[in-house]
Amino acid sequence: MRLHIGSGPHHLDGWVNIDRDPHPGVDQVLDVTTGFPFENVAFIFAEHFIEHLHYADAASLFRECRRALRDDGVLRLSTPNLDWVWASHYRRVLTEEQQVLGAFGINRAFRGWGHQFLYNWGTLSATLRAAGFAEVVRCSYGESEHPELRGLESHEQNPDFDSLSHILIVEAWGRGGTAPGYLAEPLEWYLRDTSLS
Ligand SMILES: C[S@@+](CC[C@H](N)C(=O)[O-])C[C@H]1O[C@@H](n2cnc3c(N)ncnc32)[C@H](O)[C@@H]1O
Repeated sequence: MRLHIGSGPHHLDGWVNIDRDPHPGVDQVLDVTTGFPFENVAFIFAEHFIEHLHYADAASLFRECRRALRDDGVLRLSTPNLDWVWASHYRRVLTEEQQVLGAFGINRAFRGWGHQFLYNWGTLSATLRAAGFAEVVRCSYGESEHPELRGLESHEQNPDFDSLSHILIVEAWGRGGTAPGYLAEPLEWYLRDTSLS
């Protein structure tokens, strides 16, 4: 079984397309932050979805993905790259006009389209390891060692900026992953000060 979560109207043949809203092409209407009625899942894919969840909901969804995946199952995620957003929208030395552009641009990236949390590589990989995934790797757009996970991304690709990719694509698998020690304190500050725990 393969799950495509937060699918929206983007139906993938051969996958169970799941969304909270009954878009055309959705096979199962489900709020995935409440858990899945699935197990022994081979692959889970989500594109431009996790940034729409509060951090704590995404962290709990990753644990649920780990539970639902079979031992050799793989989770593939595609999400905007915070490092690209920061570098491409904001520079320290700015004219006042550029400051205005930067301030609106970066706030739009954080708050627009229903975004709740943007990830960079370190934060996403730490969160996936905290959810129990032993291995987390970065992937290129449309590419994977697993034929079933190739060619799935459909979103536009903006040009790289300072060698940073616009989209962060990762695959996670294996069991026994643990949170790196540097995750706990910033996460505690974040949850405390955003009241989102
Ligand atoms: C930006 S859209 C992405 C749709 C599709 N993956 C794409 O790339 O075009 C995010 C989708 O996530 C869905 N969504 C948001 N929160 C959800 C939740 N808790 N459970 C399931 N779907 C959710 C929304 O309804 C929406 O269709």
